[in-house]
Amino acid sequence: MQDKPGRFITFEGGEGAGKSTQVRRLKARLEGQGTEVVLTREPGGSARAEIIRDFVLSGAVKTFGAFAEAVLFGSARADHVDHVIRPALARGAMVICDRFVDSTRVYQGTLGQVPRRAVSSLERVTLGDCKPHLTLLLDVPTKLGLARAEQRRELAGEQTDRFEGESLSFHDQVREAFLAIAAAEPDRMAVVDASGAPDSVERVIWAEVEARLLTSAYS
Ligand code: TYD
Repeated sequence: MQDKPGRFITFEGGEGAGKSTQVRRLKARLEGQGTEVVLTREPGGSARAEIIRDFVLSGAVKTFGAFAEAVLFGSARADHVDHVIRPALARGAMVICDRFVDSTRVYQGTLGQVPRRAVSSLERVTLGDCKPHLTLLLDVPTKLGLARAEQRRELAGEQTDRFEGESLSFHDQVREAFLAIAAAEPDRMAVVDASGAPDSVERVIWAEVEARLLTSAYS
């Protein structure tokens, strides 16, 4: 057992929740304390997984159905876990991942109606024991999240991807499905109201990380 075992934090949430801003801010805070931080994301996060990301988010797999998407995201995840996440945790780093396995549960499982059994089996084979110690669910009202995402795309001159282009009701169900996981797994998942200004959301996230990770085995 290492003196400072690595810790694995994931961020989840619907469109426009502000995950990418907050993962960067958390990384900066932790590095300010002298912690090695590996910031990564899904889908993608390793060279091979990024190829699968582009393929699935282009919408090319949509006609094959949600099960095919789940299998492809699972393949990407296996590579990402083996080549990036597990090695970083083994050397005691803090890993922060923007989206992870709860996104598969929500988008392919609940929304895509892939049976829970199949989603759980994929999780077992892709993760092994490599599970998040803490998941921060950034929760915003659906309309606010979609408006933020739209604004971001306009500024960057980007098109909607495979999932962003879905209906308001789809995104409402995404929100509810994430909240249902949080209700079922309160020890792992903290719900953060992400509708406020980035500074105040950052403070709430830091309080959760301190209370749930830094003041226990990690300190
Ligand atoms: P991304 O461009 O990373 O967007 P965001 O800023 O919303 O995180 O898009 C990733 C999309 O992929 C997002 O709409 C959710 C979806 N997704 C799944 O459907 N299943 C998964 O397992 C993962 C990781 C993501």
